[in-house]
Amino acid sequence: MFAAFASLAVLASGQTAEMPVVVPQPLAMKATSANFTLNEKTVIVTGTPGVGRYLQESLRPATGYHFEMKSRGAGNAIHLHLLGKKAQDLGDEGYKLGVKADRVDIEANSEAGLFYGVQTLRQLLPADIFRRAKAEGVDWTVAGVEITDVPRFRWRGGMLDCGRHFMPKEFVMKFIDLLSIHKLNTFHWHLTDDQGWRIEIKRYPKLTEVGAWRSNSMKKYSPAEYTNEPHGGFYTQEDVREIVAYAKQRFVNVVPEIEMPGHSQAAIAAYPWLGNDPTKQLEVGTKWGVIENVFNTDDSTIDFLQNVLGEVIDLFPGQFIHIGGDECPKVQWKASEKVQAKMKELGVKDEHAMQSWFIGKMDKFIAAKGRRLIGWSEILEGGLAEKAALMVWLGNEGAMEAVGSGHDVVMAQTTHTYFDYYQVKDRTKEPWSIGGNLPLNKAYSYEPILPQMTAEQSKHVLGVQFQLWSEYIPDGKHAEYMAFPRACALSEVAWSSKDSRNFERFHAGLPKHLARLRALDVNFRNLDPLTVGGTEEEE
Ligand code: ACM
Repeated sequence: MFAAFASLAVLASGQTAEMPVVVPQPLAMKATSANFTLNEKTVIVTGTPGVGRYLQESLRPATGYHFEMKSRGAGNAIHLHLLGKKAQDLGDEGYKLGVKADRVDIEANSEAGLFYGVQTLRQLLPADIFRRAKAEGVDWTVAGVEITDVPRFRWRGGMLDCGRHFMPKEFVMKFIDLLSIHKLNTFHWHLTDDQGWRIEIKRYPKLTEVGAWRSNSMKKYSPAEYTNEPHGGFYTQEDVREIVAYAKQRFVNVVPEIEMPGHSQAAIAAYPWLGNDPTKQLEVGTKWGVIENVFNTDDSTIDFLQNVLGEVIDLFPGQFIHIGGDECPKVQWKASEKVQAKMKELGVKDEHAMQSWFIGKMDKFIAAKGRRLIGWSEILEGGLAEKAALMVWLGNEGAMEAVGSGHDVVMAQTTHTYFDYYQVKDRTKEPWSIGGNLPLNKAYSYEPILPQMTAEQSKHVLGVQFQLWSEYIPDGKHAEYMAFPRACALSEVAWSSKDSRNFERFHAGLPKHLARLRALDVNFRNLDPLTVGGTEEEE
């Protein structure tokens, strides 16, 4: 069946040329007979040294060539051209790429567009271009094409949970690099949870002195099995700055997530006065799940969290600050005289409305700093704060409610974007996972615009992202195994036009793309017939 998608294109001359595999699939791509070959004399001609240098550095290790950068030049050159007069059809992030016998031209309205053109150019070269060491005897010929490409969505993301398992800085950077190669532009960094607080906050040093370390970790939930090893780690503010700068070079925006009012046991272990029973010394969580220990609603706790967010806002320049908001059991608020008295004083009718009051406090604080709050589905409880955006993981009703009231949404449904779920139906040969069944074709099939949305409502869909919750993902290699190739599928959901999406074409081209990931030393899950199928079983 897949043979129908043989990658041959008939040229105007009547000859055939192989259609290159570019992931995500560009909007329009035509194979031509022009082929350009890099050699040691090739130059990079550009007035945008940032992207130029990125191109120079990304081609250097495998080719061994250190291409000269010039502001003028003609033949034997890669031209990166920032358009003086904006091309309507390219938008903020699109680009055009053309290959001739003696040059490659990439043009765009923005540096981001040039960067995406550069990513496509890398994929038009042999897969060895992605190697970090010199590849001998390779003919560095760029496949002949003419491409016009623009993304479908502006939020194209991947979330990494560094709360449940700390991931070293080097891996976080590799993850960001892999996002950018797939033209994904948002790294959602889950930094705090019951089982670990991972970001240095200068004003509250115990958050990491205490909150970043736990005594034990679950290996399996039921029947419970533990590692019987301590686990921990955190990112200093210097690490964060380095990561944010690394991401910026790759046109990736980093969205930090600081969880509240639930998923907060690590912070309460560090500062017991944040909890609902300040006389109780909690430990940093060692069990996964939804935990009843949550922040109290005292003014001092609100101040504390706003001070934390103040430092976070200073570190992350992007528009959105994620405050979690998911899975906050109300058991302790119901039992707390202080919370109940506060609800009375505020005239708040129930604990859900109290959660809304809590999130509203953060929304105002974040908005006053010129930023926007985003939170998981449950921040709808008791009413969505005015400027807040919703990250939809639970059902589509929430998405409809949000877009219906003019709020922006990012689609992140469990069913199609939770890449911590199993990739095949037969779990027996897979590493232990949280559950679910999310094969490659199901990830590929995700449609972020719901059929019941009006055209106006669909404009509020900022985009889509995949999630890697790390309860059962202890390290980077395992994260790669769970993310790839499903993240390649997600990149087409996020970038490619709806019309150009075709699983059979994508699947037929994947072996070539996986060769690139192999060159990048990515521990992807091998394709086998099992990764495409089993969609009928959800959980
Ligand atoms: C979530 O999966 N609790 C957002």
